[in-house]
Amino acid sequence: MPSTTDTAPSSTPLGHDLTRRGLDLVLAGTTDMAETTLRVPLNYYRDDKLTDLEESTILRRSPLPVMASAQIPDPFDYVVRDVLGDSLLITRDRDGQAHVLLNYCRHRGAMPACGSGNARRFTCPYHAWVYDNTGTLKGVPGRAGFDDLDRNRYGLVELPSEERHGFIWAVLTADADIDLDNHLGAAGPELAQWNYENYQYHDERFLESDVSWKGALEAFAEGYHFPFVHGQSLIGMNTVANTHVYDEYGDHHRIGFPFTWISDLENTEPADNWDPVQQMGIIYWIYPNLILANSPVGVEVIDILPASSATRCTVRHSWMARYPATTDEQRTMYDGIFSQVHAAVRDEDFAMLPQCGQGVRRGQHDHMLIGRNEIGVQHMITVMAAKLGISLA
Ligand code: FES
Ligand SMILES: [Fe+2]
Repeated sequence: MPSTTDTAPSSTPLGHDLTRRGLDLVLAGTTDMAETTLRVPLNYYRDDKLTDLEESTILRRSPLPVMASAQIPDPFDYVVRDVLGDSLLITRDRDGQAHVLLNYCRHRGAMPACGSGNARRFTCPYHAWVYDNTGTLKGVPGRAGFDDLDRNRYGLVELPSEERHGFIWAVLTADADIDLDNHLGAAGPELAQWNYENYQYHDERFLESDVSWKGALEAFAEGYHFPFVHGQSLIGMNTVANTHVYDEYGDHHRIGFPFTWISDLENTEPADNWDPVQQMGIIYWIYPNLILANSPVGVEVIDILPASSATRCTVRHSWMARYPATTDEQRTMYDGIFSQVHAAVRDEDFAMLPQCGQGVRRGQHDHMLIGRNEIGVQHMITVMAAKLGISLA
């Protein structure tokens, strides 16, 4: 049975007991399951007002993982990215401290930074006000025109942020508090074990799709679809259909999808070699919008957010290597791995998902029915519904 806990599990979460649980499920031909099926009204996915509420009460109030630490490893590194329509300038200062700044000039709002790179100063393209990488205003051409300007009060607006477990997390509301440890709860120590801060950032891709952001996240919370949607690719070929080990960490969860070779494990490997990372694909949902899909060689970092309507979403898919590449040959190998896993997301999951987007927009049935075997999907829905204060009945 799945375990539900508000504190770190007593045994090591990534210990051999996880492999044992996966193997037992495979040998028994079953999976961890919810107690009952779950009915979800179509409005949960298609109501634009609800999506506005999600944005204001969840997505602009919760710590979001806006960037992997490994993407800006060195002092003065920076990346500009768009999150929920906000341009964010994410920097690392000379002391190694990360900052998440709104990339809007305090003069008349143009964007001082673009792209990514390593820079000590950002010069706004409109009238050349200059900011440093903590957002402090450093220079104003034609000072006589601004003789009452206090430069200390006209820096870029900084969002509350914390860097932990290999990610920079920010709340998109400037005057909000951030309490990442409280937000992650028992998922914090769980994530800490992976040492994502030592991974090597590799590459990223973006896509938009005509499906609810919640529906898109749900595709990463069940393996029921693997043989049908991924039957011709490695996900479908390497995993045991409709079988997973499931654990909850408060608002977050972990799912282990056993690889097919786990069934021979008792004959091929002594029990002290049962590293679960080699035996199953381990996927986390970190509420509200992050998926971490781990393989033996790296992790896919997928964040999904609503885009302009209830049934349109934006997806950022990046990949980090567990073992940093030191040669061109290794980098080329990682290019191949990332293009393969991205193709599965783009050409398989997101080829299917717009059908679900249309189904919720145009369907005249009353509700979706989420199976007992889709326990991770049920968890996503019940957590979101509770946060939004909506009843699913
Ligand atoms: S808008 Fe940036 S310098 Fe004028
Ligand atoms: Fe999938």
